[in-house]
Amino acid sequence: MSNEAYALQVSRYPVGQVGADDFELVPVDLPEVADGQVLVRTTWTSVDPGLRLRLRADAPEGYFPAFPLHQPMDGIVTIGVIEESRAEGFPVGATVWHSYGWRTHAVVDAGEVAMNGLASLRVLDVDGIAPQTYLGPMGPMGLTAYAGLHVIGAIDDEPRTIWVSAAAGAVGVLVCQMARQLGHRVVASAGTDEKVRWLLDEIGVDAAFDRHDGPLGESLAQAAPEGIDLYFDAVGGDHLEAALAAMRPFGRIALCGSVGDYEREPAGPRNLFLATSKNLTMRGYRGSSYVDLLDEMQRRVRAWIQDGSVTVKETVYDGLDQAPRALADLMAGRTTGKTLVRVGD
Ligand SMILES: NC(=O)c1ccc[n+]([C@@H]2O[C@H](COP(=O)([O-])OP(=O)(O)OC[C@H]3O[C@@H](n4cnc5c(N)ncnc54)[C@H](OP(=O)(O)O)[C@@H]3O)[C@@H](O)[C@H]2O)c1
Repeated sequence: MSNEAYALQVSRYPVGQVGADDFELVPVDLPEVADGQVLVRTTWTSVDPGLRLRLRADAPEGYFPAFPLHQPMDGIVTIGVIEESRAEGFPVGATVWHSYGWRTHAVVDAGEVAMNGLASLRVLDVDGIAPQTYLGPMGPMGLTAYAGLHVIGAIDDEPRTIWVSAAAGAVGVLVCQMARQLGHRVVASAGTDEKVRWLLDEIGVDAAFDRHDGPLGESLAQAAPEGIDLYFDAVGGDHLEAALAAMRPFGRIALCGSVGDYEREPAGPRNLFLATSKNLTMRGYRGSSYVDLLDEMQRRVRAWIQDGSVTVKETVYDGLDQAPRALADLMAGRTTGKTLVRVGD
């Protein structure tokens, strides 16, 4: 076991874009491993837009709490290897996930319910699957995409036209691929030409556009001239407004996030009455509220990854000290697929 343990902590709440100076990397003392606990050495940790919502004195009501200043950042799903164990069912050497976030080591209580149960200590089956996949398609991102389509989107055998925003990102690219697997028509939007090409050529969406290429409504009308049945909203604001205008009667909108608002004053939508006039269903949701679907999602996604019908895409940063840069890049649209930090081997 290494005696050197470090944690990234928030040193001040960022205004606008996140910067390296908003964080401090500090040595931490590890407590003795008590009965029912394990010591985990971190190998991979996650970088998510939702973290930006917690880098402020008050996180949105009902969401995961704000990160306190000058304390380790808990409540981020993280992968590691057990180095010492005093908990039955959690052997030394097992790969696990837990919620202890941006640090090199954590002493974790095996019985603790973390992040609504989503990130409670869990042994991962890494046979044939890279461990970090459990931070993306096989983990919270997969669950968010799966619940968004099946529960909130209520998709069934009837083919639908689905618009996926932030489609080259961690959740978006999974929604695109799951929806294509299930026979739906997918229209994708993203922030660069390169991402658009990748979505069309590698991911196999039916149509795609760059959100910067002219008015969103026009791009969407070109990609889906007959309108859309389901909008998967990762962005909010102008995107949600364009979706409301393009929805067909009795369509659905899965409100997954509003990343466009996380670093600036929230904007819009200004045409909300269309939800009434078109009999739309709009529903917000959190993947962590659907932990009961985790096993089912993992079974299906594992099969899709192994038969090659789901592509796993990652943007990897090396070293815990790179996590702030990874978050800044993610928010600025400079990453593709799941954004990850490799903390150790
Ligand atoms: N409800 C839940 O349980 C849950 C769970 C996970 C994530 N989420 C939400 O799902 C969304 C996607 O999360 P993710 O982890 O998959 O992140 P991600 O898509 O990998 O990264 C965020 C992407 O958002 C896009 N973006 C940033 N600013 C934007 C803006 N002003 N307008 C339009 N697009 C913008 C960027 O892509 P482009 O530049 O390519 O557009 C960026 O790459 C976020 O809203 C997140 O909060 C919700």
